[in-house]
Amino acid sequence: MSRASKKIVWITGAASGIGYACAERFAAEGYLVVGSDINPCKQWQSIEELSSGSCFRLLDVTLEQAVTDFAGALIADFGAIDVVITAAGVAGGGAIHHISTADWDHVINVNLRGTMLCIRAAIPQMIEQRSGNIITIASVEGLEGSEGGSAYNASKGGVVMFTKNLAMDYGRIGIRANAICPGFIDTPMFREVMDLEAMRETRDKIQAQHKLGRFGRSQEIAGAAWFLAGEDSSFITGHALPVDGGYVAGHSYGLTEMMGLV
Ligand code: NAI
Repeated sequence: MSRASKKIVWITGAASGIGYACAERFAAEGYLVVGSDINPCKQWQSIEELSSGSCFRLLDVTLEQAVTDFAGALIADFGAIDVVITAAGVAGGGAIHHISTADWDHVINVNLRGTMLCIRAAIPQMIEQRSGNIITIASVEGLEGSEGGSAYNASKGGVVMFTKNLAMDYGRIGIRANAICPGFIDTPMFREVMDLEAMRETRDKIQAQHKLGRFGRSQEIAGAAWFLAGEDSSFITGHALPVDGGYVAGHSYGLTEMMGLV
């Protein structure tokens, strides 16, 4: 097992949205990107064109043995894991008396347990290297409650706390761990919910909670991931970083409009 000449990043949920944008950014910066997703990625060839050697492999993050085998193959093929970004995730929630236990379990299973399984599979290699960088994609909904959030918010709150604990447990051997907490980002997952006719008014209200007055772009999350993976953030660990256009900065009641600040 010889180490590849490039740095290696493993990105889950890499077929779409935020994960794909991270793959694009890290490939453009010269990383060898190993992308994984439960679904195939139609546009992956452009990642390989940006950084040769990058590859895409199918992986369901909820399948423990498959995750272990995936990490083992990655290490056998490339000899290192410098960065892991866990972007695989699903939406879901509703007031709890409206949702089934199976729906609750699915959200927790993918978003929280899947995140843990992938990171746990990468950790032994990072310990051997005595270096590594873990970036989880949580959510502003893991920092505060939201109507109907239930399973999703619980999963993302869990990801935030899990990430802080990773920083506690592995910091002294050179592994950093940080969570990114995106605001509402225009991705296929976002559109699946926000494009519903019933969501039109709510969508406008949610947009207004972003103090920059707009939803975010996947590339803006990838930019934060790039910062957290690099030397400019070398003293940052155990942090949950909102990248949210000011969504969690405070509540809006319309006073900015009254003050003429729009
Ligand atoms: P997306 O739906 O575009 O991408 C999520 C990817 O995860 C998809 O490619 C999907 O196939 C994959 N995935 C789902 N279940 C999987 C499984 N069991 N195993 C492997 N892959 C699986 O969604 P988006 O928006 O890019 O989301 C990425 C992450 O960012 C998610 O964790 C999401 O919760 C989080 N997030 C998204 C926000 C948004 O507004 N779009 C806001 C805050 C957080």
